[in-house]
Amino acid sequence: MRQDTVLVLDFGGQYKELIARRVRECKVYSEIKPGNMPIDKIKEVSPIGIILTGGPDSVYETDAPKCDPRLFELGIPILGICYGLQLMTYTLGGLVAPCEVSEYGRTEVTVDTSCVLFDGLEEKQIGLMSHTDQVTRPPEGFQVFAHTANCKCVAIGNVEKKLYGVQFHPEVENTPNGTKMIYNFLYGVCGATGRYNMRDYEAKMIAAIREQVGDSQVILGLSGGVDSSVCAALLAKAVPGQLHCIFVDHGLMRKDEGDEVQAAFSNRDVHFIRVNAEDRFLSKLKGVVEPEKKRKIIGEEFVRVFEEESRKLGKVEFLAQGTIYPDVIESGANNSANIKSHHNVGGLPKDMSFIGLVEPLRGLFKDEVRALGRQLGLKKNFVERQPFPGPGLAVRVIGEITKEKLDILREADAIFRYEMRRSRIKADQYFAVLTDTRSVGVMGDFRTYGYTVALRAVQTTDFMTCRYAPLSHNLLGRTASRIVNEVRGVSRVVYDITGKPPATIEWE
Ligand code: XMP
Repeated sequence: MRQDTVLVLDFGGQYKELIARRVRECKVYSEIKPGNMPIDKIKEVSPIGIILTGGPDSVYETDAPKCDPRLFELGIPILGICYGLQLMTYTLGGLVAPCEVSEYGRTEVTVDTSCVLFDGLEEKQIGLMSHTDQVTRPPEGFQVFAHTANCKCVAIGNVEKKLYGVQFHPEVENTPNGTKMIYNFLYGVCGATGRYNMRDYEAKMIAAIREQVGDSQVILGLSGGVDSSVCAALLAKAVPGQLHCIFVDHGLMRKDEGDEVQAAFSNRDVHFIRVNAEDRFLSKLKGVVEPEKKRKIIGEEFVRVFEEESRKLGKVEFLAQGTIYPDVIESGANNSANIKSHHNVGGLPKDMSFIGLVEPLRGLFKDEVRALGRQLGLKKNFVERQPFPGPGLAVRVIGEITKEKLDILREADAIFRYEMRRSRIKADQYFAVLTDTRSVGVMGDFRTYGYTVALRAVQTTDFMTCRYAPLSHNLLGRTASRIVNEVRGVSRVVYDITGKPPATIEWE
């Protein structure tokens, strides 16, 4: 039985992975391809539908990305989103012009509920707008199906040719009924059958890994976190016998964590190597205070260790990593702003000796990675572990990193995590941060001048946004008192109550 495939053609929009994810949520397989994918290749894939992404350009600029006009003659249903809508309009002879009033943010949209895209929805919808150009005249054969106060053509469609376009972004959470609109396109226009699930995705990934790697050897940087563990399980299934998992203990792990990771992996059916590299990482980080610099140094040092280990193993051509989608987007991919270089994305040195990177989880979000991990038979406590950043405690010790500061943080963090587990309060990630602020305290009859520890606990599903967890005062009080009494060098504890945005989850 042929599997339904939807192609997401990319024109440089920030949300292409989100579009692909929404299609998967609707149980249809999707693949992201460049906007200028040749028509022959598209025919080979024979998709049931095509979605054109948004993008930062204006269709009238000479170097703006275009698509082959024959795309619209294939008889394949197409949904254009934002730039995708404008490109479809421009290519088919309609008019696009700068907006008199640009629209940004959540905007009220009035939709025609007789249009298949809006089937089952109310007439008043909220759509996330982000545009400076707009469609002023749809191409011939197109009807207008939605408008806002400032924009006349917010959704258009040629029902006979199954071509549709929307100016807002149905793929983001800020368009509350956006997934339903995508669902309507898939089932009402493309005739999807909805047979796709995570098992198919796993099979696709395994086939892609085998094709990329051939019979070469692969080395995987294993941190013991969810992403790299799931990546290890997937690679072990795809290329058994060709995989070497390297766990680099960079001295920036939490209390007892190095030994725990070793215990969890050493009796599995994978080649596990532990490298103790605390001294070398700490000496490279000596005197460094700037967060991005720390991340880059750690990223580079990881790769140098991997290179050394692979030389010992013989010929290793591929470096595998458990990079997931939020790492990619927050590291500044697709013209989005670089918030912080997740060490496995922005921190890799340019002159690596590996011929290729294997990153099978690159298109997945955290909850999808967990689902895949469960499917691959990983234990619940592993799959549900909280994320831990690759640069480890280096980004939780603010300012210069020293062994003494790391030890203080490890003890404070262990107390907080113990108290959190005991309280059974729901938080998706929690940890302690050692700030570089010292303050005066009093213990016994003596003056102290110790560090300030900040506690962070957040609730989130995708880790791209979060709110702080409303911990009880009892829990906070008990934790603060234990930390100040039991950890030498700390004289104050504070609780971080900022959300993301405007803050980020980690402090650096
Ligand atoms: P931020 O601090 O960007 O964190 O709000 C979002 C999520 O990503 C984790 N994080 C990282 N994970 N490598 C990783 O693998 C990194 O460099 C990195 N930096 C942050 C963070 O713990 C949170 O869950």
